[in-house]
Amino acid sequence: MTDKLSRRGFLGAASGITAGAMLVPGISRGIGAPAVHVRQSSKNIAVASGNGLRAVTKAGELLAQGVDTLDAAIEGVKIQELDPNDMSVGYGGRPNEHGVVQLDASCMHGPTRRAGAVGALEGIKTPSVVAKYVLLYTNHIMLVGEGAKKFALSYGFKEEDLMTERSRESWLRWRANRGPDDDWIDVERDEPMVPRPTGTINCNVVNANGDISSVTTTSGLAWKIPGRVGDSPIIGAGQYTDNDVGAAGSTGRGESNIMVCGAFLTVESMRRGHTPTDAAIETLRRVVTASEPRLLDERGRPRFGLSFYAVSKAGEFGAATFYPSRYAAFDGEEASRPDTAYLYERDS
Ligand code: GLY
Repeated sequence: MTDKLSRRGFLGAASGITAGAMLVPGISRGIGAPAVHVRQSSKNIAVASGNGLRAVTKAGELLAQGVDTLDAAIEGVKIQELDPNDMSVGYGGRPNEHGVVQLDASCMHGPTRRAGAVGALEGIKTPSVVAKYVLLYTNHIMLVGEGAKKFALSYGFKEEDLMTERSRESWLRWRANRGPDDDWIDVERDEPMVPRPTGTINCNVVNANGDISSVTTTSGLAWKIPGRVGDSPIIGAGQYTDNDVGAAGSTGRGESNIMVCGAFLTVESMRRGHTPTDAAIETLRRVVTASEPRLLDERGRPRFGLSFYAVSKAGEFGAATFYPSRYAAFDGEEASRPDTAYLYERDS
């Protein structure tokens, strides 16, 4: 048998048949990873970025029906991918410099220890689902660009124009006003165009069996250089799951997250005993120390936004940002938008 895992293995784990899904509280050891004390969640928990209230509500409903954690997380974020009014994810997402929407996504399934990702995917509304197909049906982790699109089309995904009137107008306005020396005549703006928006949705789920999954999906940095891939499809940056420990994921400036492998780092902090919130704060501290001076203000505070969201196997959850914000959480009973922990007060 090669290292190729069968789809049957995934489905078996998803329905609780494999040993991985039957972990009991006690001491467990991940493959090649330090031992970890496992206290197992007794509730279904979902945590997401602030735009993910509908995602965690949906994930909570599906988990209550016994749906697998990865499917629950993806069905949650799909709401955002298909929403033309969310200009940071999927359909209606802000395009790159050339007016082309390029989407990134990745996911991990804790019980089977499998991952899938797509980068710079054009023309498909739901990159999170395509990432799941990479996880399910291939021996690879990440497909990008034209290859990712052909892969999706081969499974019957429909190619569609991902620009909405709103995202097209937003791009045309940016192009017209991008600089004094270009050949485009400036147009009035109804809103400031800087800083360039990043937007993304991350969702991390643990169920009452202690099984864990995570997914992150995005249209990436608005007006990016064509071909730019952010942190969202990078396993260990955009999201990461270890079924013995927990899951974490991120939204915000992807380049800064990639520099510290933030989702992996957050899960590793939880492995060493930090709560999800403390682990997320520690990761943000690391990001600050890893940042080039041009990215920090005169007091050494980040000029950009970055957030981490995390759940532990025990069902604890939390999120952290540089400046006060909110995230979305389903705590086993209801969905809400709690405050994040944060490193700095905003200037008044
Ligand atoms: N975190 C989303 C991105 O930078 O593309």
